[in-house]
Amino acid sequence: MVSPTIPFVILLALLCVAVPAAAHMCMTDPPPLRYKTNPYKTVVDYDYINPLYANGSNYPCKGYQKDLGTPSAQSVATWSPGRSYSFQLTGSATHSGGSCQTSLSFNGGNTWTLIKSWIGGCVKPDPGSNQTFEFMLPSNVPGGDALFAWTWFNNQGNREMYMNCAVVTISGAKKLATSCASGSSIFVANIGNGCTTVDGKDVAFPNPGSQVEYDGLEANRAAPLGSCGSGSGSMGNERCMGDNGSTSSTSSTSPTSLTSPATTTRPGSGGSTASCERLRSQGHLCSRAAGRGEELQGAILLMVIVTLVNWCII
Ligand SMILES: *[C@@H]1O[C@H](CO)[C@@H](O)[C@H](O)[C@H]1NC(C)=O
Ligand SMILES: *[C@@H]1O[C@H](CO)[C@@H](O)[C@H](O)[C@H]1NC(C)=O
Ligand SMILES: *[C@@H]1O[C@H](CO)[C@@H](O)[C@H](O)[C@H]1NC(C)=O
Repeated sequence: MVSPTIPFVILLALLCVAVPAAAHMCMTDPPPLRYKTNPYKTVVDYDYINPLYANGSNYPCKGYQKDLGTPSAQSVATWSPGRSYSFQLTGSATHSGGSCQTSLSFNGGNTWTLIKSWIGGCVKPDPGSNQTFEFMLPSNVPGGDALFAWTWFNNQGNREMYMNCAVVTISGAKKLATSCASGSSIFVANIGNGCTTVDGKDVAFPNPGSQVEYDGLEANRAAPLGSCGSGSGSMGNERCMGDNGSTSSTSSTSPTSLTSPATTTRPGSGGSTASCERLRSQGHLCSRAAGRGEELQGAILLMVIVTLVNWCII
């Protein structure tokens, strides 16, 4: 007879290799608003690695753009147009990578001008990778203080959007922040705006802009679903970075408009993986097996997983 504990041991062994590490990802450099290493912070967000709320209420910047104009929102970096810079991420729950963008806002987060898109390989899927990403600050970028944003759409797991923002100073620019600069808008999805990304794929941004870096297999990419709108990254928009979006924009749909109700069903929000997704959304460890059980089994399994991962790490 096969001992009944053997399948259990096999399950544990499978979890040991299949379970991704805890927590999500966040930007560490430049240090974003309210991040623990930001030298000007007055309040610390200890859950910085969490995504934006699914209802979009803390878009953009987890809501921290409202700190602008206070001592806690002083500039943490000075950049010059036409030069290369980098940002750095941390965290070990890479959700198999995904796609990222960087952008700037000169109007407190009302409108965002895209700088660069990474389609696949951002974040780097392997935990422990060098999560440093380089980009070129366009030579036509206006001067002044700006919000620099990193936005991320994870490959696997809950359909989420991550957005961290740091205050930077653009120095030596030829234009004032009140002048116009051409550029695409950032891509916005998974926050109740009717646009979602496909689970298990790197989102192929409909309008990735002029600086694009591709990584991973092409078969691993997919266009977003739903009403993602021309506003979510229309190419060649002449958009004034210095205004608040009410003038000088030729875009008919504001990408920052989140007033449309969420009509889409989030993939993974129901069915057999529901409890797994819920656990994962709370930043806990999770495996496919957890979704098949009932609540009690899920709770027991979570305890086992936590114990096991401790054992795996040792
Ligand atoms: C959005 O979701 C967050 C987190 O679940 C919640 O705290 C907040 O009240 C919600 N806001 C709205 C407008 O529903
Ligand atoms: C990480 O990558 C960046 C840019 O590609 C590079 O400058 C840096 O030296 C790397 N860091 C380590 C620790 O390898
Ligand atoms: C946005 O711009 C409009 C028109 O230029 C102006 O009336 C309004 O006060 C501005 N709003 C903010 C928050 O700056």
